[in-house]
Amino acid sequence: MPVITTIEDLRQLAQQRVPRMFYDYADSGSWTEGTYRANESDFQPIKFRQRVAVNMENRSTATTMVGQAVKMPVAIAPVGLTGMQHADGEILAAKAAEKFGIPFTLSTMSICSIEDIRAHTTAPFWFQLYMMRDREAMARMIGRAKDAGCSALVLTLDLQVIGQRHKDLKNGLTAPPRPTLANIINLMTKPRWCLGMAGTKRRTFGNLVGHVKAVTDMNSLASWTNEQFDPRLSWPDIEWVKQQWGGKLILKGIMDEVDAKLAVESGADAIVVSNHGGRQLDGAESSIHALPRIVAAVGSQIEVHMDGGIRSGQDVLKAWALGAKGTYIGRAMVYGLGAMGEEGVTKALQILHKELDVTMAFCGHTRITDVGRDILLPGSFPT
Ligand code: FNR
Repeated sequence: MPVITTIEDLRQLAQQRVPRMFYDYADSGSWTEGTYRANESDFQPIKFRQRVAVNMENRSTATTMVGQAVKMPVAIAPVGLTGMQHADGEILAAKAAEKFGIPFTLSTMSICSIEDIRAHTTAPFWFQLYMMRDREAMARMIGRAKDAGCSALVLTLDLQVIGQRHKDLKNGLTAPPRPTLANIINLMTKPRWCLGMAGTKRRTFGNLVGHVKAVTDMNSLASWTNEQFDPRLSWPDIEWVKQQWGGKLILKGIMDEVDAKLAVESGADAIVVSNHGGRQLDGAESSIHALPRIVAAVGSQIEVHMDGGIRSGQDVLKAWALGAKGTYIGRAMVYGLGAMGEEGVTKALQILHKELDVTMAFCGHTRITDVGRDILLPGSFPT
């Protein structure tokens, strides 16, 4: 067993343990993957100001996200097919998040259902919704999220049409995997994954079964989502969701000030500056690059969160310093899960927390809520 000290260590272990089509599904972006890569690399030029001889005892990274106490400004992002990275993946990730004290967001496209998560956790979790053509199915899902006591609804706005990931097409991605010769050979080299999957009955989309036809026998995930997701989504639909839900509403996928201002007008509680982890509009700027502009436009009126490229506690602190009152991890969680199940997700959270805590101290602060943009070197960050 290798010594795990970074998110990159978890990624490498996940790559060894997870069948290729599912590993590639997570570790890829759309088309050239330029935006996917920029999400990570655009954190690097941002520099901290090191401070010394400041009392650094008794530190706290605790804050709130949409009014909910969090141990650090990090939530688990909604990730489709998490339950194919590891058997019962969504349940394990939700348990790790609950024990750590941060929110878990369940994707519409999860393998385990809303009810599965409720049965295995006690803390309120968040539910992510896609705008689907079938509004009755949406209303039923919102009702199920309410019944499960979900404390926030994350409505994803950037998937009216679907970006193409070449690897998914080349690998013939389906859930469950189709028994082609290449898949069988690949699966046979991943004994941990096969054993795990053999022990679970969850092999399809737990939130959608019974609502939408042909989920279990789909041939291509991309063409299926293209058929189900509503390309006509517009602001009145968001009002409809708001009324159906009646609780905390987070709008995910905002990259432009104009949309951010419309989100404020919609009465949402928070927005997530996000390009879907570089999986949708290839050629879009990175999330960390867009963040300061969005914060300048609406940061005084709405809670601004961000995701995309967070691979360290230093990244979390940079995003916080630039005005994000919360961040989300997608792949950092997936790598931990694929590498070591619940223990791996916990490991990922511990790594991020330790890095965040110590970096905050190096910058001369003991409470994250006191940290502002002045911890960053002027000229090193986008404005
Ligand atoms: C996602 N993302 C996503 N977002 C969403 O709203 N619903 C979903 O079902 C999914 N599914 C999904 C699957 C996979 C494999 C990935 C990697 C991402 C996007 C996700 O919530 C988040 O925006 C990004 O993952 C953030 O970027 P990082 O942390 O992965 O770099």
